[in-house]
Amino acid sequence: MSATISAPAASPAPASPAPAGSVSAAMPAAGIADPRRYFEEVGRERSAVAEAPPVCLYLEVTNRCNLLCETCPRTFEELEPPADMDWALFTRIVDQVPDIARVVLHGVGEPMLVAELPRMIRYLKDRGTYVLFNTNGTLLRPSGFQALIDTGLDELRVSLDAADRASYLRVRGRDFFDRIVRDVGKFVAFQARTGATTPRVSLWLTGMKETVEQLPAFVRLAAEMGVREIHLQRLVFDEAGYGLARAGSSLFESTQAEEQAAIAAARQEGAALGVTLDASGATEPGLSLRRRTAEQPSAGLVSADQTPVDQTPMDQPPMDQPWATCRRPWSLMYFTAHGRALPCCIAPFSARGYGNYTLGDATQQSLRGIWNSDAYRGFRTALLSDAPPAPCRNCGLRWSL
Ligand SMILES: C[S@@+](CC[C@H](N)C(=O)[O-])C[C@H]1O[C@@H](n2cnc3c(N)ncnc32)[C@H](O)[C@@H]1O
Ligand code: SF4
Repeated sequence: MSATISAPAASPAPASPAPAGSVSAAMPAAGIADPRRYFEEVGRERSAVAEAPPVCLYLEVTNRCNLLCETCPRTFEELEPPADMDWALFTRIVDQVPDIARVVLHGVGEPMLVAELPRMIRYLKDRGTYVLFNTNGTLLRPSGFQALIDTGLDELRVSLDAADRASYLRVRGRDFFDRIVRDVGKFVAFQARTGATTPRVSLWLTGMKETVEQLPAFVRLAAEMGVREIHLQRLVFDEAGYGLARAGSSLFESTQAEEQAAIAAARQEGAALGVTLDASGATEPGLSLRRRTAEQPSAGLVSADQTPVDQTPMDQPPMDQPWATCRRPWSLMYFTAHGRALPCCIAPFSARGYGNYTLGDATQQSLRGIWNSDAYRGFRTALLSDAPPAPCRNCGLRWSL
């Protein structure tokens, strides 16, 4: 990465006034070759200070949701008071990184509930940012297909999590399976009919013992829906566990022959049906499930794009410190709907209590100020030590993918 946080670039005027002195300058961003692999921009050498600006933003455009997923922390506790990110806060944040390569428009909540979402996407697309979000797919309606395409959205990731209605209900808490399958299928057909090449639609299945054997059926379902890309997503959970997000449901550390067989069968079906299946990162799903061993020093340390890849074979952490090569605090910033800066998109799933790992407040501080604040530097220092911050402690260990 060539850019550094140095001379501020000219910042477009925020759409609404920011608190005095808080937005001092735009943070320049490096041009990156492939926004989908933004995490590779950060090199091996890392220290408490991030020399380069972030290349990716996660913006929780809302923390509201219409589902009660058994894997999701928001089903079990109120993480912050219910809110959408308002337009003023949104522009205040993104205007400080006008050249940001990639913006993910979800946090813990359903982005398609947000009335301003299309405007937010267009605002970012007008400056050439790669934009995507995960959605539960319940709010995709034929009447909104063209408008969604017209935003210029690059990727639409539908978290389906099951291949049949009963499993869906068990994992996602509400009986929306048939509707989502129907409407996502209609959307893909609409794209084909109208020649729309974006957004790229993919289906996501969180890897759990309860549903992994459905993978071959998930591939067939995707093919029937016209979706060509499916991803296994790591199950992330905290020490205590909640709902289905707990060690007992995790595939990692205990991948059985049947689970490996399901993955192999799914890949075979996928090859025949033209559906790609991956662990959403840099490796094949089976490899990412296996515990890292001396014989396979990198297995288990690859990641999903939802939880971006940041451990690579060329940069091995010590066997007992899976967090050691994490690059997230050097490559991305995450803001909740209230403007709270969190270290990454995994933290809300892996540790309780935002207060324990809040790194700043975008309503009061500039992004530049947050990025190398005492809190951020302390976080990075801890991450590079033998005693990582709480959300990082099990990173790479307590993920199933
Ligand atoms: C929190 S949701 C927010 C976006 C949207 N509501 C959705 O469901 O796609 C973001 C992603 O996290 C996934 N997810 C939920 N619980 C998870 C867990 N415990 N571990 C890993 N991913 C999880 C969801 O399936 C979804 O793909
Ligand atoms: S995973 Fe997504 S859809 Fe499910 S409760 Fe969480 S935010 Fe809502």
